This record gives sequence, C-alpha cells and structure tokens, in this order.
Amino acid sequence: MCGIVGYVGNKQALTVVVDGLRRLEYRGYDSAGVAVVQDHKLEVRKKAGKLVNLETLLGTDPLPNSTTGIGHTRWATHGIPNDANAHPHTDVSNEIAVIHNGIIENFSELRAELQLAGVKLSSDTDTEVVAHLLNFEYPKSNNDLAESMRKVVRRLRGAFTLVAVHAQQPDVVVGARRNSPLVVGRGVGENFLASDVSAFISHTKNAIELGQDQVVELRHDKITITDFDGKPAVTKEYVVDWDAKAAEKGGFDLFMLKEIFEQPKAVAETLVGRLGEDGKLILEEMTLSIGQIANIEKIVFVACGTAFHSGMIGKYAMERWTRIPCEVELASEFRYRDPILNNRTLVVAISQSGETMDTLMAIRHAKSQGAKVLAICNTQGATIPRESDAVLYTRGGPEIAVASTKAFLTQVVAVELLSLYFAELRLDKPTAEIKQVMNELANISHQIDVVLDTTDAVNELAKKYVNAQSVLFIGRHVGFPVALEGALKLKELAYMHAEGFAAGELKHGPIALIEDGIPVVVIVPSLREEKELHEKVVSNIQEVRARGAKTILIVEEGDDSILDFADHIIRIPQTSSLLQPLVATVPLQVFSCALATLKGHDVDQPRNLAKSVTVE
Ligand code: G6P
Repeated sequence: MCGIVGYVGNKQALTVVVDGLRRLEYRGYDSAGVAVVQDHKLEVRKKAGKLVNLETLLGTDPLPNSTTGIGHTRWATHGIPNDANAHPHTDVSNEIAVIHNGIIENFSELRAELQLAGVKLSSDTDTEVVAHLLNFEYPKSNNDLAESMRKVVRRLRGAFTLVAVHAQQPDVVVGARRNSPLVVGRGVGENFLASDVSAFISHTKNAIELGQDQVVELRHDKITITDFDGKPAVTKEYVVDWDAKAAEKGGFDLFMLKEIFEQPKAVAETLVGRLGEDGKLILEEMTLSIGQIANIEKIVFVACGTAFHSGMIGKYAMERWTRIPCEVELASEFRYRDPILNNRTLVVAISQSGETMDTLMAIRHAKSQGAKVLAICNTQGATIPRESDAVLYTRGGPEIAVASTKAFLTQVVAVELLSLYFAELRLDKPTAEIKQVMNELANISHQIDVVLDTTDAVNELAKKYVNAQSVLFIGRHVGFPVALEGALKLKELAYMHAEGFAAGELKHGPIALIEDGIPVVVIVPSLREEKELHEKVVSNIQEVRARGAKTILIVEEGDDSILDFADHIIRIPQTSSLLQPLVATVPLQVFSCALATLKGHDVDQPRNLAKSVTVE
C-alpha cells in the first residue's frame, strides 16, 4: 500500500526513482510524485492517476539533473486522489519534501497545532503535517534532517514509513519506519530506500532489513541506522535471492498471465528439498521444537483476502491429518473479538507480502496472549515472519499483479506441508492417505501444467459470459474455499458481481439468486475419492439447472457421471481431494483474467485495490 523509493548516488536520481516506482506501482496507483534536490533547491512534480501521468508531466515540465531524489506511488487513505493530495508533500519554506506510507492516527491534533501556529496546510492528507513539523525541528536539531526526523516520529502515532529530503542537505535522504515496510539497498557509491527490494534489484542485491522504530540516514557512501532515540540500531543485511528478470513480464502481456503460467514452477520451488526420499518431510526453517509441536492443542489460521482462502484449506488438511482442532479467521476480525488463546495455541499467519497490517496486528495480539506464531510468507525478511516464532517460506518469487495467483497455490502447498509435518510428528504411523498425498505432491506441479492446457477453452468460455450480470461459484469441502477464491478473482478483476458459496448452503438462501441464464461455476469433488460429497454436489447442480442456471463444471478427468448436467465442462487432472484446489483454482484464475481483458480493464492493477495493504 503506497510505494516509496529514495536514492542518493552517482546516477540521475529521477531515472532510478521513476524506474523503482514502476516496479512498485502494484502497491497503489492513485497518484505518483517525485522530488529532487539540486543546487540547494527542492523541486517537486506530482500528478493524480497512474505513473504514466507523472511521466507525461515530467515530459512537459522536466526536473533538473540531480543525484538525490525520492518518489511515491499512492493508495489513497486521507484525502481524495487528486494532485494536491499526491505525495511528496512540502513544508512552507518549500525546502523539505516528505513521502509516506501508512496512517498517522494523531494527525488531526497535529494539524490543529500547526494551524494554531499559523501554518496553512495545502492538502487533506495526514502526511503533510510531517513536512511542517520537520521544518520546525530542523533549526533546533543543528540543521540535521535525521535528528529532526527522530524528534518528529517520536510524536506520531500509527503506522508509517516516512522518507524525506531537505534542500540544504542535498546529499542526504532520511527514512523512518514504524509498522510499514522499508528496506535499504546497499550499492557501490550509491544507496537506496524502498518499500520492497524490487525497486532497486536491478542496481543491487544487497539489502538491509530496517527494524521497527528505526531511522536511516542515507548518503552515497554511508548508511547510518539508529532507533528513534538516536542509539545505533542492530540491523540484518542479506542478499536478495532473485534477480530483476523475475519481476518482469517475460514475454507475457500481463503480469497476471505470467504468474498464472509460473505456477508449476512456483509450486515445485516451494516443494524443493522438503519431500525427503525416505517419505519424511524436511522443513529446515521450522524452529518450533518437537516438544512445542506436541504441546499444541489448537491451531488458528489468520490471514486476509486470498491468503484467507488458503487458511481455510489449511484447516481442512490439518484437522483431517493431525486431528488438532483448527479455526480459520480473518485477521481483521481476530483480535477485536478477544479470541481465546494460550501457550498451547499455535497461530498460523499466512501472508504473501508479510506486511499486511491486519495480519501483523493479529499476530502481535496472539503473542501478547502467550500463543506461538508461525508465518507462511513469500517475502524474505518481511515484518510478519520477522515477528513470528517460526516461518515456512513459500518460494513463489515476486508476485507483481495485484490479484494473487501463484502466491495462493504456494500457500496451499505450504499449509499442506505443515499439516503433513505435524501429522508425521504426532501420529504413530502415517495413514494411507498421507502416504498417497506425499507421493502425489512430488508430481503436482506437472498436474498444474496439465490444467494450464485448458487456457484456450476457458478464454472461449469467457467470451460467452462477458455480459453476465452475476456469476456464482459453489463447492463443498475444499471446493468451498476454491469457490470463494474464484468469486474473489472475478470481483477484483472483472468488477462483476460474483459470490462463492458452500454448495450445501445454496438452498438456505442463495438459491433465490438463480435466474434464467445465470452462470454457476461448480467445483465438483472427486467421484473416486469423495463419492458421498460428489452425490450431494450433483444434487446441487440439478437444483440450479432446474431454475435456469447455466452450469460450468470443474470436473476431474474420468468423471463422466456429470455429463448430462453440464453446459460447459473444464477438466482437471485426478488428485487426492485435499490437493484438488491446486488444480481446480487455475481455470478460475484464467476465467477472471480473460473476462477482465475482454472488458478492457487493467488486469494487473485493478481499480481501488493495492497489493500490500499496510493500513488497518
Ligand atoms: C490484498 C491483496 C490480496 C491479498 C491480501 C492479503 O487485499 O489485494 O490479493 O490476498 O491483500 O495479502 P497478503 O500479502 O497478506 O497475502
């Protein structure tokens, strides 16, 4: 949520910053802006709308050459997405520029204080107050921007990453971090600051995790990191293990399509080295001890959006294989209902970005109640894994499209690996089903490859339903979270009314939505594996058909029992029931992507959304 870039070095700052913003635009695209410092003068350009609007402005109103700059791409919270509310925000002297990600919760008080002191604010944002406060502190801090920043942030409440420049310190960029992400990139004769490493990966792979409540002063040859009181901070330096190519489109028109087609590889990577040859699992990063795992009485999966759907699948897998009682809860609901947690509870936080504020706050609450926290995360060194007791990384590589695809599949793999691992440790001997699943996992990425062959057929199907008013998705057991995920994708991308239901619930209300011609997508359970469930779903299919629905059935190979009830069939490979989401979700992703493309929408950056939601 909001992308931030800062640069000091030997190159044209504007080029580096705008290139970084392009890679961070998935974090928000309500407006974009840059500031550079040259000859002790600050210059700012900003524009509502996507980055391309800013680039057009820079074409007609260019910035001077400079080697120090900052840039921002916004997802609006305080104030509508117009030019005035776009970042950077400046102080009255027009010497300080500030960009911000997060929400400053006490901004009204601070605004009132500034207004009383005669300051005229020129935007509706919470961010602008910081520029003015820095201006007040600067002379009192020996004209030192980093020291001024430390004084100002001590007065702020809420979540913030702030980055600032001052015209009188042309070789310095200062950043501060509380709750929202900020990473330092260490180059040679140049240094970087960004919301995530993708912004500077084409320049350096050496990154420094900035911890909670830290301030960084960046010069071209020096990085100084302190806490908010100015004491030197302990930091962790690491090398990013993917390169810039991973964050490019690689021949596809859309990041989303590229990421859909990367799923076999992403799943294979997530499994590499984890399926031991003796049938045992190897989870090297698992820092929970055997004793701690044996001690678990209850597991709560917490997550948001797509990750929540993988948590639902986690509950089904964990309970079935380990018999540990599980709950799955939206992170935004979790802590506010005062959940019952103790030192025998394990909270599993699932997050692609590792920065989602709702999930972060949920794990902080869980820890304060004595629960252990395990993170399933795709982003090395992000805040959620850092604050967890243990972590299981998905290895999906960078996911740029705002709507999640490969992150979801790798999360499903991760929750299932975790469930199998716990089963291995807690059961006397593995059940036949567990053995079978372990065998199938070794081949699952091939199965995902096979289902990608349905892409053309799904694209054709999308053409038939491009004018549908509404699409319903139904499923039972793990087909239910798949239905929810299919509906979420359609809402996010095609802006169509879509709902996912547990198929059994249909008759308790949603069936009233069925009218002539409405498409209903059904995730059909395996006839081989789940005969009873299969029968029930067939009844549900008949119920909707009887009322005029057009049925699109996602059905495994070899199941011909449903041929008479299908208007359209999409075949998926045969798998164990609990692995079915890994193949059944793929055509639904393609369907949404195709419908959104047909409607002319921006698939990678759907309206109003942001990929990494770092506000509550
Ligand atoms: C946002 C994104 C979703 C994502 C959710 C959770 O809403 O648009 O695609 O599923 O956040 O994100 P996380 O990074 O925690 O998995």
